[in-house]
Amino acid sequence: MPSENLTPQNNNNQEISKAEVIQLSPDQWELFRDIKLKALKDCPEAFKDKYEDEVNLSEEDWRKKLSDIKKQYFFSEKDKKIIAMIGIEFLEGVDKQKVEIHSVFVDRDRRYKGVGTALMKDILEKIKTNPEITEVVLKVRATQEDAIKIYKKLGFEVYEDEKMEGKEDKVKLKDGSFVDRISMKLTLNNLN
Ligand SMILES: CC(C)(COP(=O)(O)OP(=O)(O)OC[C@H]1O[C@@H](n2cnc3c(N)ncnc32)[C@H](O)[C@@H]1OP(=O)(O)O)[C@@H](O)C(=O)NCCC(=O)NCCS
Repeated sequence: MPSENLTPQNNNNQEISKAEVIQLSPDQWELFRDIKLKALKDCPEAFKDKYEDEVNLSEEDWRKKLSDIKKQYFFSEKDKKIIAMIGIEFLEGVDKQKVEIHSVFVDRDRRYKGVGTALMKDILEKIKTNPEITEVVLKVRATQEDAIKIYKKLGFEVYEDEKMEGKEDKVKLKDGSFVDRISMKLTLNNLN
């Protein structure tokens, strides 16, 4: 079950002392659309969603995404601008104690200043306030070295996703080549 505690909080991290972690209301759908499309255009290889599909979504589609309690988005805001994004999904069925992190993105002009790490840390703290959640999982392309470095620094480990049933997990890029996709997980009991 999603936690009641997943609400916006101030974030007081180092260089980004003025950045705040916020959620957007459906009325702010244009801000969400803008950062999401920027992310998909900037690094299409990093995300499952495709720019060509998302650019055609309607206002109603974007509003729906921001209203979905099972799939929530958080953003770093600085100087009234959205500079980073992260998505979390509460998985269902046998995986119901798991949360999946996806759509991790920091605006290119704001990278290497600790924004991504701070946002990830903040979201993990929020997830940990829900005692039902015991595992945080994510998938990352092997080429996303900065992202992998952050995830490892925060305690994520590479694991073999059973759902793949031993098959290789690869993503096809625009140029037709393939890149490995790595499954990573963080067991929250280890941190508490
Ligand atoms: C991955 C991403 C979110 C990181 O955001 P960020 O705000 O730049 O991250 P941070 O500043 O917190 O950390 C970046 C790491 O890169 C390294 N780094 C710092 N300056 C660097 C530089 N000039 N060049 C290369 N690496 C550098 C550092 O090792 C740092 O880790 P550290 O804290 O151990 O020093 C961002 O690069 C991004 O949006 N990438 C494209 C999308 C993507 O790959 N998303 C993940 C999909 S799973």
